[in-house]
Amino acid sequence: MLLTGMIRLDKYLCDAGMGTRKEVKELIKKGQVRVNGEICKSPEQKVNENTVDIDCDGQKVIYEKYTYLMFYKPQGIVSATEDKKEETVLDFLKKVWEEKEERPFPKGMFPVGRLDKDTEGLLLITNDGALAHELLSPKKHVVKTYEVTPERALHGEEVLTLECGVDIGDEKLTMPARVNVQKDGKLQLSIMEGRYHQVKRMLAAVGNKVMHLKRLRMGTLYLDEDMKPGDYRVLTEQEVLSLRDRIPSLENVEAVIFDVDGTVVDSMWMWKRIDKEYLAKFDIPLPDTLQADIEGWSFYETAVYFKEHFGIDDPVERIMADWNEMAWEKYEREVPLKSGVRDFMRLCKDRGIKMGIATSNSRELMETIERVHGLTEYISCIRTGSEVQKGKPAPDIYLAVADTLEADPAKCLVFEDLVAGIMAGKSAGMKVCAVQDAYSLDSDREKRRLADYYIEEFGQILEREGMAHEERF
Ligand code: URA
Repeated sequence: MLLTGMIRLDKYLCDAGMGTRKEVKELIKKGQVRVNGEICKSPEQKVNENTVDIDCDGQKVIYEKYTYLMFYKPQGIVSATEDKKEETVLDFLKKVWEEKEERPFPKGMFPVGRLDKDTEGLLLITNDGALAHELLSPKKHVVKTYEVTPERALHGEEVLTLECGVDIGDEKLTMPARVNVQKDGKLQLSIMEGRYHQVKRMLAAVGNKVMHLKRLRMGTLYLDEDMKPGDYRVLTEQEVLSLRDRIPSLENVEAVIFDVDGTVVDSMWMWKRIDKEYLAKFDIPLPDTLQADIEGWSFYETAVYFKEHFGIDDPVERIMADWNEMAWEKYEREVPLKSGVRDFMRLCKDRGIKMGIATSNSRELMETIERVHGLTEYISCIRTGSEVQKGKPAPDIYLAVADTLEADPAKCLVFEDLVAGIMAGKSAGMKVCAVQDAYSLDSDREKRRLADYYIEEFGQILEREGMAHEERF
């Protein structure tokens, strides 16, 4: 019989931080340990880790299988478990924990990832190796947000360079990032990789320098605003759950329906680039606040603004036609598929799952994307925003695709990167998986709240379905 949750008494005490195996054996043999009220002198006695009540020298032993701490790492200590010369985050934490909690610091704790000695901010400290492994997997691309104080204020063009990918001296450019410039000139920079000294090297690549660096976020964890350097707290159960993968299964899925921009292709940065290149034709530098000024405007309204604000002689229709042509070229040549998409589509096809597209983009552009990336064989139906009565967040477009695919909406799985699209899929009665995208990182919390599942990239589903996944670009 398998005794789940049954472990040896000496292991239980060790895991609860009561001492080394040798030390706890001594305690047990001396009769200092009571199991459910009875003195127990055998270290090999099996106890149920979920229900047993143990005290040692009259004090209740607090046993948690794993401990998860949000730690505000101060500057000046290193993110290691041990260091011969420097104070480590664990030396520091152990001291403050033992003062505050009046019980031993849990065994086997380590920081999940690293911050430089002079960087402060959020560090997750745990002894759950499996969770740490999941969070640190380079495939997973967990987002990290930093508050960066640059040596000098960044121009709009430098922000764009950081967002689109910058050469920091490695083989590949950095992945798309999100940069929010604040009124005081500090940046909130969100990145989805964890290369060595990445933030400092990114700033250096645009001729700047990091004067101060603070991590605010890692995946679903956000540093509490009222925490001070050196503070820590135990994560809530909800927070621990939120750190775990929420990857969809393909079982019982009849059809998969994809949004396109930001979900299937990495295109959300493209319009910023087009603004820059378009203005450069008139020798106008990209204004630092342009994106904020035009946020939420329609294509037409933006063209009117360009004409009036930048004194462009061309009629509004011509401006829009020029932009469309530039977009066309970018979709043909520059816009990549998001990682793992083609392999995922192949997997769905192999499983007999039908696939469709529901996009606010034009049919012509969608067909270009299909052709350029060889997706035609997988997609049996395309529906665009202009072909249905109402755009997202109304459910119409998703229902129209399900109808064409002859699939039951309740057995459709939608992939979406924007809040409005997630709402559309949910209102259509479908299961929705949110897809991480640099452009929508600011609404990530809302995306996770609304969607049934969340993926950083499609490779996670392939891995879960047990298929080797090749990196395609
Ligand atoms: N990037 C850096 O350059 N330093 C850090 O500590 C974290 C990210």
